[in-house]
Amino acid sequence: MLTARIAVVASGGGTNLHALIDAQGRGELKSGSIALVIADKAGIGAIQRSEKAGIPCAVIVRREPAFEEKVLAALMEYQIDLVVLAGFLGILSGDLLRRFGKPVINIHPALIPSFCGKGFYGLRVHQAALDYGVKVTGATVHYASEIVDGGQIIAQKAVDVLPGDTPEILQRRVMEQAEWVLLPQAAETVSAQIVKEKENAL
Ligand code: GAR
Repeated sequence: MLTARIAVVASGGGTNLHALIDAQGRGELKSGSIALVIADKAGIGAIQRSEKAGIPCAVIVRREPAFEEKVLAALMEYQIDLVVLAGFLGILSGDLLRRFGKPVINIHPALIPSFCGKGFYGLRVHQAALDYGVKVTGATVHYASEIVDGGQIIAQKAVDVLPGDTPEILQRRVMEQAEWVLLPQAAETVSAQIVKEKENAL
C-alpha cells in the first residue's frame, strides 16, 4: 500500500513525536509512515524516542551553519513527502519551504491567532495566555508558511484554563487534551491527501 513518507522535526522532549509513533502503532496513522526524525540538537528526548521505535534519526544542530541545507538534504535522501514540525522551536525560512515544495505542518500550543508568531514558543505561549487571563486556550495544527504561525489552519482544539494554573500545568493539559490527539489526526488527514495524489499520478 502507498503511504506518505513523513519526517518529524523536534527540538525537545519529543512527546508529540511519541504521540505520532503511538498513533502509527495503533493503526490510526496509517496513510503515512514516519521514515525519519530530525532532532535539532544533541541529547534531546526525541532522539531516544526515535531509537526506541527503530526510526532513523538525524541530529542536525539548528545553531550550526547550513542547518537548512542539511535539513533539505536529509528530506531528499529519505524521499520525504510530508514534514511534521512536532515541538520544533525554530523557524523554517520561506526559501526552504519553497525548495522542499511539499507540505509542512506544525503544532502550536494555542488557538491561533492568539499567542502566536515570533517569540511565542514552548512555555512562553502558556505564560502569555495566563498573563492575559484567557479562560480557554488550546492547540492548532496548521500548514507552515513564510509567516510564522500564519499558514492555513488544519485543526484546532480548545482546552480550559483553570484557577491556579502555572505555565507547566497548563502546558501539560494542552498537550494531553489537544496536542497529542490533534497532531496524529492531522498527520493522517494530510497523509491521506498525499496518498490520493500519488495514486492519481500513477
Ligand atoms: C509543544 O507544546 C509544542 O506545541 C510546542 O513545544 C512543545 C514541544 O513539546 N511548540 C511550539 O511552541 C512551536 N511554536 P514536545 O517536544 O514534548 O513535543
